[in-house]
Amino acid sequence: MKFKKEISLSIFGILCLSLMTSFGCGGGATASATPDLPAEPGIPFKQFADAVHAVMMADRTVYASKVVTRLKKQDASVTPSEYWEDEEHTIPLPAQMFRMGSELVFDNPEAGFTYALKSKWPLNEQNHPKSDLEVQALDFLTENPDENFYGEEELGGEKYFVAAYADKAVAEACWSCHNDHGNREDSYPEFAKDDVMGGVIVRVPMK
Ligand code: HEC
Repeated sequence: MKFKKEISLSIFGILCLSLMTSFGCGGGATASATPDLPAEPGIPFKQFADAVHAVMMADRTVYASKVVTRLKKQDASVTPSEYWEDEEHTIPLPAQMFRMGSELVFDNPEAGFTYALKSKWPLNEQNHPKSDLEVQALDFLTENPDENFYGEEELGGEKYFVAAYADKAVAEACWSCHNDHGNREDSYPEFAKDDVMGGVIVRVPMK
């Protein structure tokens, strides 16, 4: 029950992050500031994972379609580049934005979960699946592109709920950039429209 309450608060935190710039969020909404609240019914792991996945995909889509594509259409002097840290007048790629966000959540002990965009054929080594269940999840998504994967695993003596969501080649830019990329290994598939290129993995501790 305690966990579920923290999850509700984490969701509030995420919504809060999204809304903060426009509306601001009421202060004191942390587990320690509200110790006497009556126990809430809580949210099931699957529902929590689906919800945070929806928020992260919405943000990624908005960045790709409203920022990256818009700059391109305007022939802007600022362009997205994988090497944005070293090049002038560039901004990060959507996948890099996504990874940097996931790293901040990973470092935040209050977040109550972790997530990452992974693939069995990653351009960035860091995005390789790291556990047997992650490999199983990515295999499942490749076989069943229209379904999500849900499972449980134990790592370092802790039990985790794991959800995985297919990441598909929805636009020509996806497969052309990946297929032509210098980091691709010999085993790299030739991605085509609607192929599952990887998956978003959400991991929630079950304590
Ligand atoms: C301009 C090139 C480019 C485009 C366009 C692009 N990607 Fe990527 N993608 C990358 C790079 C570079 C990474 C590694 C990012 C990082 O550092 O984590 C990446 C990472 C990924 C990953 C994680 C595994 C990996 O390869 O490291 C997936 C899955 C992925 N992209 C899918 C997609 C999909 C789906 C689209 C289209 C919606 C897309 N990409 C568009 C360059 C691109």
